[in-house]
Amino acid sequence: MMKAIILAAGEGKRMNSDLPKVLHKICGKPMINYIIDACKNAGIVDIIVVVGHKADVVKKNVSDVEFVLQNEQLGTGHAVMCAQKFINDGEKVLVLNGDLPLITSDTLKKLIETQCSAALISTVLENPKGYGRILRNGEKFLRIVEDKDLNENETQIKEINTGVYLFDSHLLKTALQLLSNDNAQGEYYLTDALEIIKSINDDIKIFCCEDSQEFFGVNDKIQLAYASALMQKKINETHMRNGVTIINPDATFIENDVKIGRDTIIYPNTFLHGETYIGQNCVIGPNSQIFDSQIFNDVNISYSVVLNSMVKNKTKVGPFAYIRPNCIVDENVKVGDFVELKNSNIGSGTKISHLTYVGDSDVGQNINFGCGTVTVNYDGKQKFRTTIEDGAFIGCNTNLIAPVNVGKNSYIAAGSTITQDVPENSLAIARQRQINKNGWKK
Ligand code: UD1
Ligand code: CA
Repeated sequence: MMKAIILAAGEGKRMNSDLPKVLHKICGKPMINYIIDACKNAGIVDIIVVVGHKADVVKKNVSDVEFVLQNEQLGTGHAVMCAQKFINDGEKVLVLNGDLPLITSDTLKKLIETQCSAALISTVLENPKGYGRILRNGEKFLRIVEDKDLNENETQIKEINTGVYLFDSHLLKTALQLLSNDNAQGEYYLTDALEIIKSINDDIKIFCCEDSQEFFGVNDKIQLAYASALMQKKINETHMRNGVTIINPDATFIENDVKIGRDTIIYPNTFLHGETYIGQNCVIGPNSQIFDSQIFNDVNISYSVVLNSMVKNKTKVGPFAYIRPNCIVDENVKVGDFVELKNSNIGSGTKISHLTYVGDSDVGQNINFGCGTVTVNYDGKQKFRTTIEDGAFIGCNTNLIAPVNVGKNSYIAAGSTITQDVPENSLAIARQRQINKNGWKK
C-alpha cells in the first residue's frame, strides 16, 4: 500500500496575498491540484492533504482527497505528525510539499518503486539560496541542513532538498516522535526525520534529478510567474506536438484543461481559458480571449472575446466581436465588427456584420442584419425575447422592441422601430415619411 501526504497548511507569507499559497493558479489550475494529479497519475489512490491556514477555502477547491487539520503551523515535521493517524504500519508514505506544481508523475513513479527505509529527491541549483542543502559522504546521505541553519562552508553546497520524500511508515512514525524544534526557525523540520531514520537503519537513497525545473518551489509571486511560464511552455508544446500551429508560443496563453484540434492556428495574444474546446482547422487570434466555450471546426475568431458559448463550423467572429454567455451560434454565421451577442441562438447562414446588439433572441437561418440593429430587450424592469424567423432581412438602424416576432422572409425598412409582430413575407416600415422643404435654406 502507498499513501501520499501533501503539505498545504502554510500561509505562504511571501505570496503577500489573501489567497492561501497552494490555491494560486498556474495556467488556470490551483497549484495543489497539479501535485494531486501527479500523485494520482503515479497510481496513488490514498491522498491526504494537510490543511491549516484558511483550511476551509483550500478544502472547497480540492476534491477526492482526505483532509487533516494542522491548527498551528509548527513546521513540515509537525504537519506530517498531524497526518499520522492515517498511516498504517507496513505502508510506504510519499510526502510532498504543496508548492511544487511542476512535479511529474514519471518522477514520482521512479521514487515510489525504490526499496529502502527512506528516499528523497534532490537536485543541483546554481543559486541554492533559500533551500535546504543535502550533506552527503559520497553516495551516503548524512543530513539536510535548512538554509537558515547553514554554517559558512555549507552555503557552498548546491545540491538541494526538493521537498519530495518516500518513507517506510514505521520508521517515519518512530522518527516523528523524536523530532525537536531546536533550530533557527523553532520549527519541527520534516527534514530532520531523515537523519533520525538514518541512525536506525542506514539505508537512505538520494535521487539527484538533473531536470531541476520540475522541483521549482513557489514561495512568492515572482516564482509563481516563473512556474507559470514553465508550465505554459509545456502545455503549448503538447498542443504543437498534437498538430496545433502556435505562431508565437511565448505570447499564447492556454490553460491546462483546454483542448485544441489539429491544424488549428493560434495567433499571438490569445488567451484560452477554462473548459474551452477548439476543433480542427480554426484560426484563433490575434488578441482574442475565449472562456469555457466550444468552438467547432473551421471557425475563425479574431480580436474577439467569447464567453461560455458555442460556435459551430465555418463561422467567422470578429474582428472586435463580443459573444457573451449562453449563445449558440450555428454554422456559417458571420458575427462581424462591433457586434455583441448575449443569451441568443443564431441560425446557420445568418449575417450580423456590423455594429449590432443581439440579446435574449432566437434568430433563424439566413437572416441579414443591417448595420446598427438593436434588439431592445430590457424595459428597465424585465428582459424580453426577440424572435426572428428564417430568411428575414433587417434594415439598417432598426430597433426591435421585445417581446416581438419578425416572420419568415419578411423585410424591415431601414431606420424602423418595430413594436408589433411582423407577419411573414411582408415589409414593415416604422418611421416617419421624409418631407423635403424646397428652398428652406433661403
Ligand atoms: C522546505 C524544506 C527544504 C526544502 C524546500 C523545498 C523543511 C524544513 N524544509 O522548505 O529543505 O529545500 O521545502 O521547496 O521541510 N507546511 C505545512 N505546515 C507547516 C509548514 C509548512 O503544511 O507547519 C507546508 C507549506 O504549506 C508548504 C510546504 O509545507 O506547502 C513547505 O513549506 P515551506 O515553508 O515552503 O518550506 P521551505 O522553507 O520552502
Ligand atoms: Ca517552499
